[in-house]
Amino acid sequence: MEVIIVKDADEVAVTAADICCDMLTIRPNATLGLATGSTPIRLYEQLVSRYRAGDISFAKVATFNLDEYLGVGSDSPLSYRRFMNEHLFDHTDIDFVNTHFPTCAPGSDPRLMGPEYEDKIQRRGGIDLQVLGIGANGHIGFNEPGSSLGSCTRIKTLAQRTVNDNNRLLSENQIQPDMALTMGIGTILNARRILMLATGESKARAIARAVEGAVTAMCPASALQMHAYVRIVVDEAAAKELMQTEYYRWVRKKNESITAEHGGRAGEDPWFHPSLRI
Ligand code: GLP
Repeated sequence: MEVIIVKDADEVAVTAADICCDMLTIRPNATLGLATGSTPIRLYEQLVSRYRAGDISFAKVATFNLDEYLGVGSDSPLSYRRFMNEHLFDHTDIDFVNTHFPTCAPGSDPRLMGPEYEDKIQRRGGIDLQVLGIGANGHIGFNEPGSSLGSCTRIKTLAQRTVNDNNRLLSENQIQPDMALTMGIGTILNARRILMLATGESKARAIARAVEGAVTAMCPASALQMHAYVRIVVDEAAAKELMQTEYYRWVRKKNESITAEHGGRAGEDPWFHPSLRI
């Protein structure tokens, strides 16, 4: 895994936005997997300002969000659809028809929605770039510890720690949902490129387990070790418990010198090299 350690949350956002913009430059009709939570908010701010500056367009892009609370309508302030509209979609030229969430209409059987979502992703040709945050317990999407490493989109009951962590985002009279539909770990691993972001000390333990710990269902993010193209962008606080920080910094320098030697424009980043079948 390529671990990119930068100073703070703003630099995480800028670095992640550079990667997303490279993707959209190479493939204007890219399919993006998107995440919610507080971590990617600054990335979305960056993307909106780059869209406003005319650097990128979302007109041909399709998006698939990782997860959505079960039983929460798209107009609810709790819904991830609303979150994405507010932080990204409403401010770009994306066609809302191309923005997808694993949702379940009232009265439908939520157990059937997972395979439907997987089909939709397949019909679009799979996910080119999946953006991820990480839970303090190592979850990705809502794949809580114990999730099968091969899991597909399905309903999932949230861990108590996740319910508590996400409580901070609610106002007083809102009840925290405790079930969600989420892409599985297998779904995430099928993405062609994965970009995970983490900021702040509260994520340091989870990042260390995901990057340098054993691959285990008890830390769902550790499954990313099985993927060939993962970049993890962390700030110094989230990198605090990593053992090999000097090595990751050294690797980054070496990669930058390769890029400088062989071309530094979008499309020439080795991560997106055409021969690597993006
Ligand atoms: C939720 C989301 C995850 C997200 C996590 C961390 O549980 N389902 O996709 O990564 O929160 O959120 P935050 O970035 O707010 O710490």
